[in-house]
Amino acid sequence: MSLLPLFLAVSAATLVSATDHIVGGHLGWNPNINYTLWSNNQTFFLNDLISFRYMKNMYNVFEVNQTGYDNCTLSGVAGNWSSGKDFILLNRTGTYYFICGNGFCLNGMKVSVRVRSLPVNSTSPETTGKTGKHASEAAMVIPSMMMAVLLAIWMGFGEI
Ligand SMILES: *[C@@H]1O[C@H](CO)[C@@H](O)[C@H](O)[C@H]1NC(C)=O
Ligand SMILES: *[C@@H]1O[C@H](CO)[C@@H](O)[C@H](O)[C@H]1NC(C)=O
Ligand SMILES: *[C@@H]1O[C@H](CO)[C@@H](O)[C@H](O)[C@H]1NC(C)=O
Ligand SMILES: *[C@@H]1O[C@H](CO)[C@@H](O)[C@H](O)[C@H]1NC(C)=O
Ligand SMILES: *[C@@H]1O[C@H](CO)[C@@H](O)[C@H](O)[C@H]1NC(C)=O
Ligand SMILES: *[C@@H]1O[C@H](CO)[C@@H](O)[C@H](O)[C@H]1NC(C)=O
Ligand SMILES: *[C@@H]1O[C@H](CO)[C@@H](O)[C@H](O)[C@H]1NC(C)=O
Repeated sequence: MSLLPLFLAVSAATLVSATDHIVGGHLGWNPNINYTLWSNNQTFFLNDLISFRYMKNMYNVFEVNQTGYDNCTLSGVAGNWSSGKDFILLNRTGTYYFICGNGFCLNGMKVSVRVRSLPVNSTSPETTGKTGKHASEAAMVIPSMMMAVLLAIWMGFGEI
């Protein structure tokens, strides 16, 4: 008998938790978009992901400090990405600054995001959203586990 189905059900449940914030939504990472409007419309929590989608070799992503962000320079550069589909883990609280490093920052390709610690409340709408999501994941894993056990029993009988 195999525990693989059970293992898969549990892994699937534990993988889904952090939010991936796609910069610019369907507009992606491109010139002449006001990313302040996009950023203000999101809530970033610790260990969420931010992802940049753009034409590779055309644009890129640099993490800089506030001086770099304000002035479109590589001041305080802390990292750079250029795959065209870059996922960055927001693993500290505070403000992150990202710019396009090849001139397009001056065309608006800059974004700052403020990362908050995970809410401690269960009463705020944001927390209720998260709790609701986790609760529904838990609700899904129970039938999956029952299926796995039933399958294991069935396979066990098959071997007799
Ligand atoms: C982007 O929108 C913000 C918020 O409305 C505004 O303050 C800012 O001036 C805009 N930036 C540009 C470059 O238009
Ligand atoms: C803000 O978020 C809402 C809900 O996700 C969305 O409908 C709206 O288009 C967003 N606005 C901007 C400027 O991104
Ligand atoms: C932007 O650059 C100017 C001149 O290089 C500098 O005086 C200013 O401090 C910089 N902005 C910030 C926020 O540091
Ligand atoms: C950004 O980094 C540069 C170079 O290390 C430094 O001179 C500048 O003070 C930093 N700016 C901020 C706002 O920390
Ligand atoms: C970009 O990142 C690579 C490592 O990933 C580093 O070697 C390189 O110096 C960085 N470039 C700049 C301009 O910071
Ligand atoms: C966040 O992740 C980066 C890259 O893996 C690592 O260098 C950095 O130390 C981490 N920061 C914190 C606060 O864990
Ligand atoms: C906790 O909830 C109260 C009342 O809803 C709210 O005023 C407070 O800002 C919340 N604190 C956090 C850390 O979310």
